[in-house]
Amino acid sequence: MILLLGGHGYVGQAFANNLQSRGLVFAAPSHQDLDATSKDAVARMVGTLKPRYVINAIGYTGRPNIDSTEQEKSLTLTANTTVPCVLGEVLTAQKVPFGHVSSGCIYDGSRPDGTPFTENDAPNFAFSHPNASWYSRTKAMAETVLADSSTCTIWRLRIPFDQFDHERNYLTKLMRYERLLEVNNSISQLQEFAAACIESLERRIPPGIYNVTNPGAIRTSEVAKALRQHGLCDREFQFFPSEEDFLAVPGRVKRANCILSSDKLAATGITLREVHEALDWTLRRWKMLKS
Ligand SMILES: NC(=O)c1ccc[n+]([C@@H]2O[C@H](COP(=O)([O-])OP(=O)(O)OC[C@H]3O[C@@H](n4cnc5c(N)ncnc54)[C@H](OP(=O)(O)O)[C@@H]3O)[C@@H](O)[C@H]2O)c1
Repeated sequence: MILLLGGHGYVGQAFANNLQSRGLVFAAPSHQDLDATSKDAVARMVGTLKPRYVINAIGYTGRPNIDSTEQEKSLTLTANTTVPCVLGEVLTAQKVPFGHVSSGCIYDGSRPDGTPFTENDAPNFAFSHPNASWYSRTKAMAETVLADSSTCTIWRLRIPFDQFDHERNYLTKLMRYERLLEVNNSISQLQEFAAACIESLERRIPPGIYNVTNPGAIRTSEVAKALRQHGLCDREFQFFPSEEDFLAVPGRVKRANCILSSDKLAATGITLREVHEALDWTLRRWKMLKS
């Protein structure tokens, strides 16, 4: 038995599908079934189900986007920091392995020498950054809390995309936005992400932090071009002239844009496809599903 928390959300569904495809038995209690902010409630559920491992895909990313988390600080803090904190205390004490979905949005840019951030680099888009979003701060805080756990694997997800039209899918977003910001980013193919995370728990790789992104980086304009080339979008994409113009919209917070190294995960034998290859595969799939 595996316990999947947040299993009804966007990322949680990808975990549920992967567990199902492996024929693994899992329970996915809803928000209403389990108060994940209560140590007693979590301990009771873990005591009853005795899961082999727990996956935490609970979190709050804002509605319609991350900007709203600035006005919903307690909600964001509860889902992104308090819940992982509770899980960390209960599951570490009970020696239950668990994985936590974190985010690459705790970094901005790349290292001074231009190389990708590794898991050894301290987040630079959290408390030390004056313009870091509240969302990024809450995700960084959870990592700080969980870093001490001997049973926790932290998976950093970054801009999920896949072949299914969904308001959270990066590709859907790009097709809907009026204007795009030209940036270079590491991104994660969502099904590959979920498969890699589950594999990490199945194989019992050493607990710790792992960047779970497709190797390499990709510019927004490359993704936009690929969407047109695959015939999924025929509009001419418009770009903001600069990040300042993007941020000029009232209420908009700075986005983290960064390049992460996935070498640490690859060294365990768990790999994701190179980012351009993964995007091409995904767009072909999208087209096939559409026709
Ligand atoms: N989507 C992205 O672009 C992205 C990128 C990087 C990292 N992540 C991380 O991935 C995780 C999942 O995000 P998502 O996009 O899948 O979000 P989502 O679609 O909103 O799903 C979040 C899930 O968490 C549950 N939840 C929220 N607050 C809760 C609470 N206080 N107690 C119990 N359950 C709660 C929700 O349950 P209800 O539906 O019942 O409220 C839902 O099942 C988050 O940690 C997020 O930071 C997401």
